[in-house]
Order: sequence, then structure tokens, then C-alpha cells
Amino acid sequence: MKFAEQDFIIQREPIKKPDALVINSAAPSNIALVKYWGKHSLQLPMNPSISFTLNKSQTKTTAQLKLLEEPQKNTPFKFYLDKKHQPDFEPKIADFFKRIQGFVPFITHFDWHIYSHNTFPHSSGIASSASGFAALAKIITDIEKQLYPPRTEAYYAKKTSFLARLGSGSASRSTEHPVMIWGKHPKIPNTSDLYAVVPDFEIHPIFQTYKDSIILVEKGQKKVASTIGHNLMNTHPFKNIRKQQAYDRILQMADYLKTGDLDNFIKLTEAEALELHALMMTSEPNYILMQPDTLKIIQSIRALRKKTGLPVCFTLDAGANVHVLYPDKISQQLQQLLFSKIDHETIYDFI
Ligand code: DP6
Repeated sequence: MKFAEQDFIIQREPIKKPDALVINSAAPSNIALVKYWGKHSLQLPMNPSISFTLNKSQTKTTAQLKLLEEPQKNTPFKFYLDKKHQPDFEPKIADFFKRIQGFVPFITHFDWHIYSHNTFPHSSGIASSASGFAALAKIITDIEKQLYPPRTEAYYAKKTSFLARLGSGSASRSTEHPVMIWGKHPKIPNTSDLYAVVPDFEIHPIFQTYKDSIILVEKGQKKVASTIGHNLMNTHPFKNIRKQQAYDRILQMADYLKTGDLDNFIKLTEAEALELHALMMTSEPNYILMQPDTLKIIQSIRALRKKTGLPVCFTLDAGANVHVLYPDKISQQLQQLLFSKIDHETIYDFI
């Protein structure tokens, strides 16, 4: 079942308005295999992307809501990370609330206190905005469930991803497991630019045991926000080639995920990671997010693969950290031959 933007607009008044509400949620991070890079209009992707959901790196959020006497023009809220008020995070959340209020008008009827906690180290550079906005979007659809007549689970799932997208594009892929596709692909049924979907094919068992170990080359905030990088794609000299390639690669990746073709999975995953950074290095202005140790780690992964034949590969997001992807059955060997030799903190995650 596909939904259009109008399907997500609530047309009626709530059937009840409780004086207070407390809602908890949790959402995972994700790592793209074929990357979302470039966007237009209001958070619509230039090309489709596909990702593994990362189960261990989660944002847990509690929202405490109090009914206001009158709905406000802008939703009043305060955001706390690890119980500490964090005004720095509030402008992005304020934008999010403004973008979604036409679809979920009830949010303006409440005063919000939002308490979040990440199960991975704060500012480790892993995608906390994806898990953060997905957790908040889940809370909002949960409230919708309580205030309005029931809709189908498919509707709530798509609406959660739709709302999360309006906070951060990659957040749209942090709402379900184990693989999500965001962006309309003419050859993959039910895909949409508005929200991410779980593809309707079986993932090969080898990928159901996959691990993602994130080697933290650099901690702290990203130097260049993804949003700036996305916008640079609008005038990028390789824009059209990149777009076409991403469409082709989604089909290839879907095929490898179905068949368990590890050799080609590795080739394509690494090609995508390097291409993402090549696009940054060839935009105007250009910039480099990799650090010397990023390259050293990439080289040691490739050398290890060549020497041992172990099916290990890397991917990158918009930063210097290296995501090491491998099937669980080689975890011990990698611990000995790779992770124990690297002088950076590693976060062990799984699909
Ligand atoms: C390189 O989702 O962080 O991680 O929509 O502006 O919030 P905004 O961007 P964001 O971009 C993520 C880009 C990426 C690739 C990916 O996750 O697909």
C-alpha cells in the first residue's frame, strides 16, 4: 500500500485531549550501503538509498506533555540530553516541529519536555540525529494513535518514517528492521520519496548475522553538516552521473542482499563509501572529512582481506569514522587480526 502526502494530514479534531501524557520510545541508528547524498524541495532525496538498521546504537526518548489552554503558533518545548537542558539542539527540533505541524496539528496543543539518551557515546559522530528524530517521530505517531480513531499498522509505520524524514533524511530509514530503502525506485515496488520501506524480498541469512563495528577515528560534532553537503550536490559537476549510478546500484545491492553474494556486496559497499567522499572532494567548495587514520584503517582492512580472504569490508558516513562490516562467524578472527591492533575506540553493533 502506498501513501501520498495528503494521506498523512489529519482532517479532524482529536477525539480526546488528555491533560498530560508521558510517552517513551527508542529508535536505532542506521548505516547506508548506497548513500543518500543530495536533496531537493522539503527533504526529498536526489536518489534512493538503502541501509542496514543498527540495533545497538539507539536513542531512547521520553516526552512529557502538558495540555495548553490554547494551541500555540509554534510548539513550545525543551530538549534534554542525559537530563541536561541542551539549547544547541533546539533549533533543529523547532524546524522539525514546524515542518510536521500541518500533518500532526495536535502537537501545538501541548507543552513538551523531551528527554533523550543515546546508548552509544555522545558525539561519537555516529548518526544520533537519525535515531533521535526516528525516536521522536515514533512518539508523535504514538500520540496520534491515542487521540484519533485507529488506522492500520502500515499507515502508522509509513507515517513514522515520513515524519522522521522531515527531521533528518536518514532518520526515515531508522524506523524499521533490518534493511530499509528510502526514495522512489521505478523498479522496486512500493518505494517512495516520502518515507522509507522495508523491501519485500528475503534478506539472505548471512546478512541477518551481520556486524558493524564503528572505529572512532574522530569524536565530536561533524565539521561540515550533511545538509551543506547535500545542497552542494545541486550544482555538482557529477550530479547526473551520480544519480544514475545510485539508481543502478540500489538494484545491484538488493540482488546481493537476496543472494548473499559477499564478493560483490563488498565491492559495491566500498565503492559507495569512496564515492560519497569523492563527491565531497569534487564539490564547489570542496572539503575532506577523512583523516589520515581513516585511510590507514581502510588500507589495513583491504590488506587483511587480501591476505586471509576474510569477507570484511568498510563503509563511511559523512565523517572520518570507519564502519567495519562482516558476518558474525568471523568476529573472533577480526578481533585478533584487526580491532586489537587499532588504537581507537570501537563500538560493536549488529544488524
Ligand atoms: C552521508 O540524513 O544527516 O550519512 O537530511 O540534511 O539531515 P539531512 O542529512 P542526513 O544525511 C546523511 C548522509 C549520509 C548518507 C546516508 O545516511 O544515506
